[in-house]
Amino acid sequence: MKRKSHIITIAGAGSARVPALLGNLIEYKDRFPVSKIIMYDIDNERMGQMEAYDRLVLKCYYPEAEIVFTTDAETAYSKTDFIFCQMRVGKGEMRSNDEKIPLKYGLVGQETCGPGGFSYGMRSLQGMKEMVEKVRSYSKETWILNYTNPAAIVALGLDRMFPEDKRILNLCDQPYSLLKSYAKILEVDQEELVPKYFGLNHFGWFTDLKDKAGNDLFEKLRTYLRDHDFQPFNAEQRAKSWLDTYVRVNKYMKFFDEYIPTTYMQYYMFADEIVEESDPEYTRADEAKDGREKEVFETCKSAEGKTTMEGIEMLTNSVFGKLMVEVAESIAYDLNNPFVVMVKNNGLITNFPAEAIVEVDGTIGKDGAKGNYVGEIKPFYKGLMEGQYAYELLTVEAFMEKSYTKALQALTLNRTVISPVKAKMVLDDLMSVSKDFWVLEK
Ligand code: G6P
Ligand code: MN
Repeated sequence: MKRKSHIITIAGAGSARVPALLGNLIEYKDRFPVSKIIMYDIDNERMGQMEAYDRLVLKCYYPEAEIVFTTDAETAYSKTDFIFCQMRVGKGEMRSNDEKIPLKYGLVGQETCGPGGFSYGMRSLQGMKEMVEKVRSYSKETWILNYTNPAAIVALGLDRMFPEDKRILNLCDQPYSLLKSYAKILEVDQEELVPKYFGLNHFGWFTDLKDKAGNDLFEKLRTYLRDHDFQPFNAEQRAKSWLDTYVRVNKYMKFFDEYIPTTYMQYYMFADEIVEESDPEYTRADEAKDGREKEVFETCKSAEGKTTMEGIEMLTNSVFGKLMVEVAESIAYDLNNPFVVMVKNNGLITNFPAEAIVEVDGTIGKDGAKGNYVGEIKPFYKGLMEGQYAYELLTVEAFMEKSYTKALQALTLNRTVISPVKAKMVLDDLMSVSKDFWVLEK
């Protein structure tokens, strides 16, 4: 039976990740058919750079889907079933500041971890708050699938600001990407893998892995990671910094090999070494701009004035895009497929605050995400998570109350900072470049 089709809005359609997302929608058109795609961005020029490609690829491979480009929120949000949202408030320029300013003080320069993540979090909370208010002024039914980073802070903040809203789902593709990489190492299909995972977003661990028949694969994977470099499944398409990031998982496991950490754990464990290796003049923001973004814009440019896709590369290579579409599919047809999800703890981790947003293995269906029961976690993980959760919470409260003191407390608690002296210097510096986005009161 043919599945019912939906209207979707891509909010942040000026993102260089979007053309590949369209490729994924094409790949999945039988599984998650769409009748209309509304491309929305407040930056028309950026979105416009990809418009010719976006139109052409859909005309060629998805003619049944109507496509609309708009900078008008009402057109984007008033009649739509799913919003796929990936906004980057302050764009690449602010990402660059988030990464470079901490490095001036010998602190990790990363977009979602440490002071950079704090600063980005403050911008995203404002952008997402306005977005959710706008969307809900039109409809309570529309699903907001949100990929906006730093997802841990955004998820917690949205839960605080919109506690009754059951149709916002915050997503991260890193666990999904890691599972793809495990599947490649273990030479099994990703669909065969049944993981156990707990933590906070960008701060968690795989604790078990089986196949569907119940055979243990975790031991095999841990053994492999003891003597082989960990590589992403798509290593050949990854920039050097990402390859280094994966290999540092091996390093973590030389110290603690009980569980397998997310790649982001390294910023909290090996901060000094990472700072040492960073180039304060050229960070991931530059690499992403000179790499992925440039390639995507060039491909899109090559579509201008064309009527067929002949000689034009079709972009499909996106873990994020696949995840978004699979999640929408699982909600739309109530499939309860397994995903690693961000949900309110509410007793899943029995010795962790009920109101925290945790990341655990679970399922997604018509009522959103459900986490699987974890039980009690051990002191090492609990200790790490408590500190990180307090940092996230204080960041959200600093945003909601415009509190400088809470911001300073947040940064001092962050394992990449620790020193209140450095926390203050980096906070003041970040604040001075962020005036257009956030202000704190002393
Ligand atoms: C992973 C993370 C995302 C993050 C992305 C950054 O996929 O899960 O949260 O946005 O990496 O990738 P980039 O190539 O922009 O550095
Ligand atoms: Mn992520």
